[in-house]
Amino acid sequence: MIKEQNSVHQTDISSASSSGTSNAKGIKLKKDWSSVRDVREGTEGTQVFGTRTLDKKDNVWNHNAWDNVEWDEEQEKSAQDKVRKQASNPMPLEEQEKYHREAAEFWNTFYRHNVNKFFKDRQWLGIEFPELIAATKLNAGPKKIFEIGCGAGNALFPLLTENENPELFIYACDFSSNAIDVVINNKNYDPKKCKAFIWDLTSTEIPEYIKPASLDLVVLIFVMSAIHPQDWNQVVKNVYKMLKPGGLVLFRDYGRYDMAQLRFKEGRMLSDNFYVRGDGTRVYFFTSEEIENLWGTKFIIEQNAIDRRLIVNRHRRLQMYRIWLQGKFRKVDNK
Ligand SMILES: C[S@@+](CC[C@H](N)C(=O)[O-])C[C@H]1O[C@@H](n2cnc3c(N)ncnc32)[C@H](O)[C@@H]1O
Repeated sequence: MIKEQNSVHQTDISSASSSGTSNAKGIKLKKDWSSVRDVREGTEGTQVFGTRTLDKKDNVWNHNAWDNVEWDEEQEKSAQDKVRKQASNPMPLEEQEKYHREAAEFWNTFYRHNVNKFFKDRQWLGIEFPELIAATKLNAGPKKIFEIGCGAGNALFPLLTENENPELFIYACDFSSNAIDVVINNKNYDPKKCKAFIWDLTSTEIPEYIKPASLDLVVLIFVMSAIHPQDWNQVVKNVYKMLKPGGLVLFRDYGRYDMAQLRFKEGRMLSDNFYVRGDGTRVYFFTSEEIENLWGTKFIIEQNAIDRRLIVNRHRRLQMYRIWLQGKFRKVDNK
């Protein structure tokens, strides 16, 4: 594993939604419900069924994970102070340039070191995105899914394994050639059912393999955060162009003040809420409003949810506040 200044890199995302919890005897139970809460529903009376809520702070050590943990004012202020401190000492502009110019190369190095050992398979896909599982069902009919920024294929391969639909085809791309090599060399890679290729999501052209308005689902899992904010509009344009009218974007990414953001030391901030990790890869931390403003320009926002989780390491007496955002954006027409 690459040694990093900010050690939280992707271990944090592999735990998204799969962290499970444990029963009174400490036996690990597989989590089989979603903790996301749509920001448009407000906070009152929106308890998600099956979630584990921390009512008394003293109970925090009783379980490995708690859902929908609200922050008090003090905690919010402390997070703001940390980010203000990071912002008071950003990375000098002349140093930043190489992280933007060589973004794909830094991810290449990441996959050269980690191959497919870093991310866990996204076994929670079915909980958060049942639309994906529906497409794998025997009689689902012709379906085309495109996973963008697929990395080592941790979403692609669980879907291929699950698939019973003879008419499902999955495209997967990444701008890191090493990531695509890892995918193609996986023993479960089947060119009759999927196609992995190199493509940069910020390009002005859509991939040669994908016809305009041809896709049913586009999957973006912890990918937008790796993209420079000035390229986000191009991303939205590209995704819009490739989806069919009625097609859906499935989005999950880092939320503002997630533990991974607050851990950054000074000198790592590129611009507001955008950082470079110790291994040279970049990461942004979104708010729900930013998601709404960005995707709402061309899509109907069907879900814009926050997944706040307190992960507890009882052995090391650590409390880790995770914040992930999750969205579903529908293309309704062909503008
Ligand atoms: C944090 S990883 C997530 C990988 C995968 N989606 C997962 O959840 O396991 C971000 C991925 O996005 C890819 N990526 C970053 N910028 C990209 C771009 N402009 N075009 C395509 N892929 C990109 C990186 O190479 C990396 O594989």
